[in-house]
Amino acid sequence: MSGDTLIDPADAALAVLEELKRQRTEGVRHLYMEESTLEGLAKLFAEPNNEVSTKQPPLPHTTDPEADPEPGTGNFTDMPRVEESSPLKMDEVTPQAKPKAKVINPALLNPPEISLPNGNKQEKWEWLKKRVEGCEVCKSELKEGGKIVFGVGSLDADLFFCGEAPGAEEESAGAPFVGPAGELLDRIISAMGLSRESVYIGNVVNFRPRHERAYGNRPPTPEEMDFCLPYLRAQLEIVQPRVVVALGKTATDGLLGPDPQRRLGQMRGTWHEYSGIPMMVTYHPSYLLHNPSKSSKRKVWEDMLLVMEKLGLPISQKQREFFQ
Ligand code: URA
Ligand code: URA
Repeated sequence: MSGDTLIDPADAALAVLEELKRQRTEGVRHLYMEESTLEGLAKLFAEPNNEVSTKQPPLPHTTDPEADPEPGTGNFTDMPRVEESSPLKMDEVTPQAKPKAKVINPALLNPPEISLPNGNKQEKWEWLKKRVEGCEVCKSELKEGGKIVFGVGSLDADLFFCGEAPGAEEESAGAPFVGPAGELLDRIISAMGLSRESVYIGNVVNFRPRHERAYGNRPPTPEEMDFCLPYLRAQLEIVQPRVVVALGKTATDGLLGPDPQRRLGQMRGTWHEYSGIPMMVTYHPSYLLHNPSKSSKRKVWEDMLLVMEKLGLPISQKQREFFQ
């Protein structure tokens, strides 16, 4: 950045912070930044006359420090890649950017009470699916032509994968994990020696969280999560899996209740419990798509190895060594 920028450096710094906070509320956890951008920011925050620098800590380097540019070796190395996010440019930031006031659909404040009917698993599941697909509140959140997304898979599954909420592809298809994140989840499942049909796949939220941007997904709000959680819990009650895998932070918060101190990096790799069921927390496949480092893949894979051990699934030496 040159010294003759058109906007005041303090305003620019605040605008950058506002924009980063906004992105964080949208679930962005990692940013790609050019070294020169970082240097510019560091200079800006170090300016002795810059009021901001006395109030705000310097910006953290949000790029994954463990990022490994080498592709890994294993069954999901040919994963689809998402576009690199473009570096944040100061002149693209609106200095007056203000967070928009959140409008909550009041109907979301009354979560449904679900009491499953008598019958076998299939009957209960079909009753619940009809109930969720007919949910007026969920339907009111859909864009035109969009579909409610209920869980899929085996009702006798030992393994229950829990995701966050449908994205664009899922909303169109009416099925969970069918977009890029779903393709990666499929590869992870098959690397474990399982099939998509033999596990169960559900989400915390059954509709795609609406947002104004042309692309991308917004993580659900606490109200959206609380509203749909009875539907997720009822699916777990029906399937009664031996292990639940929470994919990412939303799934973890949904199943265990929110905790602002929670860090996925500290939760993953050890066993937790949801309603008496052993629960493994791991990174969301979308996170891997944005951070396709060997070390991130290895972490997810180590979590899946623990799951396989818990379920007594056979593990070959080759499987043990994926992404090492
Ligand atoms: N991400 C999720 O969390 N769930 C889906 O169904 C698809 C993408
Ligand atoms: N942070 C998240 O919120 N989710 C992930 O999966 C990884 C990091």
